[in-house]
Amino acid sequence: MLENDLILKAAACQAVERTPVWLMRQAGRILPEYRKVRSSVSGFKELVTTPELACEVTIQPVDILGVDAAIIFSDILVVPEAMGLPYELIEAKGPLFLETIESQADVEKLRVAEGPELQYVYDALKLVKKELNNRIPLIGFAGAPWTLLSYMVEGQGSKTFSKARKFLYQQPEAAHLLLDKIADSTINYLKSQIAAGADMLQIFDSWAAVLSAEQYRVFGLPYLEKICNAIDEVPIIVFPKGANYTFDELKELNCQVIGVDWNASTEDVRNLQAAGKAVQGKYDPAGLYASRKEIAKGAQQMLASMGPVGHIANLGHGVYPDTPLDNVRCFIDTIKEYQHVVSV
Ligand code: CP3
Repeated sequence: MLENDLILKAAACQAVERTPVWLMRQAGRILPEYRKVRSSVSGFKELVTTPELACEVTIQPVDILGVDAAIIFSDILVVPEAMGLPYELIEAKGPLFLETIESQADVEKLRVAEGPELQYVYDALKLVKKELNNRIPLIGFAGAPWTLLSYMVEGQGSKTFSKARKFLYQQPEAAHLLLDKIADSTINYLKSQIAAGADMLQIFDSWAAVLSAEQYRVFGLPYLEKICNAIDEVPIIVFPKGANYTFDELKELNCQVIGVDWNASTEDVRNLQAAGKAVQGKYDPAGLYASRKEIAKGAQQMLASMGPVGHIANLGHGVYPDTPLDNVRCFIDTIKEYQHVVSV
């Protein structure tokens, strides 16, 4: 049994003694301890593929920041690689695929990842589980099919993702085949993460907001649905960043938690909660550059507006690498100390 299962309780919309908190990208460059491990290896990929090191940097924020969940140190791009499209992480630039997807023939050449290709992730999960010793839950994750398609077609990050969107308009059949192969790979991958010990899963749809509501209905939601319907062993957090246009449809998705960013209104959140979903988020990560007094006030305001039930506190996106660590601590500590006023 877990000593601290606040996040699982909040995901199930059960009463909690306080709101739980963790941060997207907590295992990363905000911590000097991470940078030390990172500078001792040849590159990011060595860190990701060496289970002992991935385990070490996964545990760091647990011990140093006192968050209520660990998230396995990995990347969403390991799935395209397992399908046959290797990536590199270019220093100070970001991810890069040397080959990209341009046609139906390219999609046909890709394989559905069966799971074993990503054994290094499962080995890391097992090590983390052991190291955590049931202190807190361990979150596994994957990228959503649309976000992974964007990287596989663009080859790298983009401001507009116009190449990926062009692909949807010009080659919809190839796009559907690719999304389906990614979804099947992701199901295999997430099931193996559960077998290795993941207590909860998050699906990152980081670029959901570049699509229209109509396109998301065609190219985004059906594949999220396929993944969520295939997994019922652990709670799932679906995070379609910024895609507030699809909240009504998300209520029907077979998942427990919806991740929201700082553009979601209190009304949006209340509507999701009223439909039985827990909500994760939604503090603006740039808000952590403010004074600590303002951060404490802002965090308290967020907690009051999200309510005592069905909320997992987090940022609305990953913590920015140059955020002062004391400000991150202030945010986390404020949340852990906060007592909701419950009217009787
Ligand atoms: O949340 C965590 O602490 C767990 C680890 C994690 C990483 N990437 C480690 C990482 C998670 C959950 C991810 C997910 C991820 N990766 C997403 C979805 C979330 C999001 O931010 O929208 C995306 C789009 C990626 C792709 C990716 N990986 C990018 C764009 C970059 C470069 C930019 C950046 O954020 O640094 C990466 C590299 C990456 N992934 C780093 C880390 C810690 C930085 C590597 C380093 O230089 O040390």
